Formats: sequence, structure tokens, C-alpha cells
Amino acid sequence: MADVDLVVVGLGYVGLPLARRACEEGLSVRGLDVRAEVAEGLNDGRSHVDDVPDSAVAGMRAAGFAATTDTAVISRAEAVVLCVPTGLTADGEPDLGSVRAAARAAAPHLRPGMLVVLESTSYPGTTEEVVRPILEAGSGLRVGEDFHLAYSPERIDPGNKRFGLRNTPKVVSGCTPLCAKSAVAFYGRFVDTLVVSRGTREAEMAKLLENTYRYVNIALVNEVALFCDKVGIDVWDVMHCAATKPFGFAPFAPGPGVGGHCIPVDPLYLSSKAEAEGFTFDMLAAARWINGRMPGHVVDRAVSMLAGMGKSVRGAEVLLLGVAYKPDISDTRETPALPVARELLARAASVTYHDPHVTGFAVDDVELPRAEELSAALRNCDLAILLQDHSSYDHAVLAAAECVLLDTRGQVAGERVTLL
Ligand SMILES: NC(=O)c1ccc[n+]([C@@H]2O[C@H](COP(=O)([O-])OP(=O)(O)OC[C@H]3O[C@@H](n4cnc5c(N)ncnc54)[C@H](O)[C@@H]3O)[C@@H](O)[C@H]2O)c1
Repeated sequence: MADVDLVVVGLGYVGLPLARRACEEGLSVRGLDVRAEVAEGLNDGRSHVDDVPDSAVAGMRAAGFAATTDTAVISRAEAVVLCVPTGLTADGEPDLGSVRAAARAAAPHLRPGMLVVLESTSYPGTTEEVVRPILEAGSGLRVGEDFHLAYSPERIDPGNKRFGLRNTPKVVSGCTPLCAKSAVAFYGRFVDTLVVSRGTREAEMAKLLENTYRYVNIALVNEVALFCDKVGIDVWDVMHCAATKPFGFAPFAPGPGVGGHCIPVDPLYLSSKAEAEGFTFDMLAAARWINGRMPGHVVDRAVSMLAGMGKSVRGAEVLLLGVAYKPDISDTRETPALPVARELLARAASVTYHDPHVTGFAVDDVELPRAEELSAALRNCDLAILLQDHSSYDHAVLAAAECVLLDTRGQVAGERVTLL
């Protein structure tokens, strides 16, 4: 018998906020994760996800939430939502290993009437061609006849204070109309606006389009920044001016590169699927090439700033400010700080980092020295590079620092400050 409304499989940046939101709305929720430390931490009231404070975990626990590594919990659920990682293999190909493993784990526990939803980002066809056969073979049940299978991409934006799960419209799809109906009934309990797509492939493609749109537009402004640097145009003023157009222009900012495990990764899911279908996405290849140039460009700029002071990069004390891939979070996955640090180290600079959110940052398995105190670190370096503009960074303090500053985010104005 189902005595739990929802089992969330994969309690990370996507799964934990989902579990929290459902708890808030009065659903009975359990969580399943392969990592025992994640389950134990949550059961002890500790969050490992920036957007979910320990106090929220306490609230979830009070509402009956518990986490486990035991897949049998799935048999208790009305709905199972898979929020497992979809990264890349060592060769840069889509890695659906976790999706397959989660589906295999769920299959023997499926019961008639259950709803299974995949939320992980993946290429079109994943729900129908990868998840469905595993669930049907492992359960002996049929999608659309015995249980419901749906795809609903997550749009969570870690650190975003304005848009969360409740007020961000959610795309929902099902393998059959009845599957979609079941998914709509489920998400309607805790999401304000649902958008039903024609099928699962449209929903999967919509998610890839959203992230690819960001990737390509960031590449465009990065290339504009490279051009502006070459010909002596202030790209930040260009961006400011263009962004005042009230229609037909969406502003994106140049920067040291694209980070996170979505924006740089998802376009590869699209290009890989396209390639398998005999289609080439030229735009994606160009965007990838341009975004990949940015960390090297940052280092080149840093080296020429040092040279302008009569200093060699060899032995120079360089301080990296903000190594997380986006502001106000601790996530360093795919952060451009990594190739920047790696290149500076390769050129024999002495590299230190400061990041209020990141307590450990390794370059090729070697831990980078972490500066605890910002003002001392700024005093002790030859050059600081602002890679991530966390809101705790006081721009006036950075502008007044004794060292020169390369600001890759276009935020700080000052005599010793150079903008990317
Ligand atoms: N982080 C984001 O901002 C974001 C936004 C939208 C979509 N997504 C997508 O959502 C999915 C999940 O991303 P995330 O950031 O939450 O990942 P994450 O790495 O933060 O969390 C995934 C969790 O799943 C667990 N896990 C792995 N395999 C498992 C298995 N077989 N069974 C149970 N648990 C398993 C991991 O231990 C981890 O705790 C990915 O497809 C990602 O692309 C992420």
C-alpha cells in the first residue's frame, strides 16, 4: 500500500528543494540517495545544498521527511521523481549511468497506478527510449496501462531569491495523455503554473533549448568582449547601452567562461544526440570554442597587467576572488576558475584563492591555498582577479585595494582596476 505521496530519488540541488517544497505543501515525502552521508546528514538535520538551510531540513523532518539508501522505500510511493545527475563521461559524451541505475532500482518496486517522473536534464528520447524499457522490463508492468511515466525538466536556479519551485512555470509531459494527466495532478499540488507539452521529447528538447540559449548568447557577448578588447572599445558600456532597449534584446554578460553542471554540459547532450541523428549543430560548436577561450583570455590579460607593472607572471602572487561558478553559492562544478588557476600555475604564478562559500578548491588534485582574510590577501598579492562577484564582496573595498585588480565581471570601478 502507498503510504507516502512522494519519493525523491537523488537528493541534490534539484531533488532536495523538490522534497522541501512538497513537504511545505503537506505531502508526505521520503528521499532516496545512493550516498549514505547525504541520507544520514539530512536525517540529522544537516543540509548539503546551499538553497536549503538546516532550518528547512528541520521543518522537513518535523513534517515526516526521512532519507534512506534503501530502494525499498520506492514501493511505498504514489509518485517517484528521479533527480539524479546527468553529467558527461571522460570522453565528453552524455553519461546516463545514474538515470539507468535509478530506473533499475525503481523498477522492481513499481506498483499499478504509480507515477514515475524523470526530472534530470537529458536529450530528447531519454524517457521513452532509456527509462521506459528499464522500468517495464524490471517491473513487468506497462506504461500507460499499469503505471504512469512522465518527464518534467527542473528549472531551479540556485541562489535565485525571486523564482523558486512554486512560482516558476513547470513544463510537464507524459508518455501517454493519461501519464501527462497524472503528472499534472501531482505537480499541481505544489507548483503554481504548469505547461503541458505534446510529448516527452518536446519537454526534453525545451529544457535543452533553454540552457543552450544561455550558452550561445554568453558566447556571443564573450566574442564581442574579445573584439572590443582588441580594438579598445569598452564592452561593459556597450552592454549597458544595448540593454536599455526595451524589446528584442536580452542582456547577457561576458565573463571568464561558463560554469556549472548545466549550461556547459547540456549543449553537449544536444550535439551528441544531433550527431547520432546525422545532424550537426554548427552554432553549438562555435559557442563552445568561444566560451572555451575565455579562461585563457583572462590569464593573458592578467599577464599583460603584470608586465605593465614590470613583473613577470613567474613567481607573481595572484589572488583569485570567487571560485564558485555563480554568485553566492559554493558549487564549483565546471567553474572557469579551474582552467584560470591551472593556466596561471602552468606559467609558474603563485596562486591563492578567496571565496567565502568555498572551503576547498583543488587543481588537478592539488589543493590551492585558501586566503581566510580578504583584506590581508589583497595586501599580500601582486594581482587579484575577480572571477565571481559574490554579494559579500564590497566593491569599494576591492577598488581601494593596494594590488591591481582584473575584474572579469565588470562591477568594480577604480584607479587600479582593469575590466575584462
Ligand atoms: N543544479 C541545477 O541547477 C539544475 C537545474 C536544472 C536541472 N538540473 C538537472 O537535474 C539533475 C540533477 O542535478 P543536481 O544538480 O541535483 O545533481 P546533484 O549532483 O546535486 O544531486 C544528485 C544526487 O543524486 C544522487 N544519486 C546519484 N545516482 C543515484 C542513484 N542511482 N540513486 C539515487 N541517488 C542517486 C547523488 O548522490 C546526488 O546526491 C541533472 O540532470 C541536472 O542536469 C540541475
